[in-house]
Amino acid sequence: MSKPRLLITRRWPKAVEESAMEHFDVTLNDKDIPLDIEDMRHALKSYDAISPTVTDILNAKAFEVEDVSCKILCNYGVGYSHIDLPSAEKLGICVTNTPDVLSDCTADIAMTLMLMAARRAGEGERELRAKKWDGWRPTHMIGAKVTGKTLGIIGFGRIGQAMASRCHFGFGMKIKIFSRSQVSAELLKRYNAEQFSSVEALLSESDFISLHCPGGTSNRHLINASNLAQARPELVLINTARGEVVDEVALANALENRIIKAAGLDVFDGEPSINPVLMSSPNLVMLPHLGSATRETREEMGFRALENCKAFFKGETPLDKVV
Ligand code: DGY
Repeated sequence: MSKPRLLITRRWPKAVEESAMEHFDVTLNDKDIPLDIEDMRHALKSYDAISPTVTDILNAKAFEVEDVSCKILCNYGVGYSHIDLPSAEKLGICVTNTPDVLSDCTADIAMTLMLMAARRAGEGERELRAKKWDGWRPTHMIGAKVTGKTLGIIGFGRIGQAMASRCHFGFGMKIKIFSRSQVSAELLKRYNAEQFSSVEALLSESDFISLHCPGGTSNRHLINASNLAQARPELVLINTARGEVVDEVALANALENRIIKAAGLDVFDGEPSINPVLMSSPNLVMLPHLGSATRETREEMGFRALENCKAFFKGETPLDKVV
């Protein structure tokens, strides 16, 4: 029996590409540049399966194709707000993602940003490399203490919980949560956490906010000028979720006018383009979407995407079926 034709839209770690080739008739994107909408339309008509990533355009327009051959989009990544699910469903295309395997590393990057932003690590490194450091002094580059402070977590799925675990047990932080669904009493008790019913209330009671909710239209600009105005001036905002969750113009303004203290971003609206208003904020740390970027995790993401795809072609329900 011939193997299903699988398009892997970006290069994967070698071990996972090799495994993919054992089970599928694989096409790799040798140039490793994102596919455009026409490439994607063509792929939907030419392959049995596609493994896309966050850099692919799978909006409603991309699905306006006739004679679709693709039966599954086994996304390489946990977030799938780049995929228009109603269109996929309408065409009978199964969509899967890769949860669990990247929770620890994404929470680690949120911690990295939180500590860097609070302790002004980006500024410090820039000063030193620019040969502007003139030595230790009691008033030099004073940051914010992290240990024992209050962390507000927005979105309390696996990554939000991994963040709570690090901050509560490692840094003795008080945990407060905003989540649209009710978090179980057992889970709240584990982190001695309190659930809030509005983002505004959470912002007004937190020293740090870390975003762990999905992106997409429903959470677009969840953090905006109006709720940033409710924040404490000490607030440090961390985003490792999706760029569109934060109104970046409002954030730049809040940083510039000291409405909040600092921010750390790993994701950007329209990335890899960075809104120029962010570039000049000294109290902002920026990383190039590194949340899941460790060898172990990037391999596990690939293996998980392949498991979902293999299960599908065996006639089983993939473990991580989204639709
Ligand atoms: C994810 O898995 O969603 C990461 O952000 C990479 O897409």
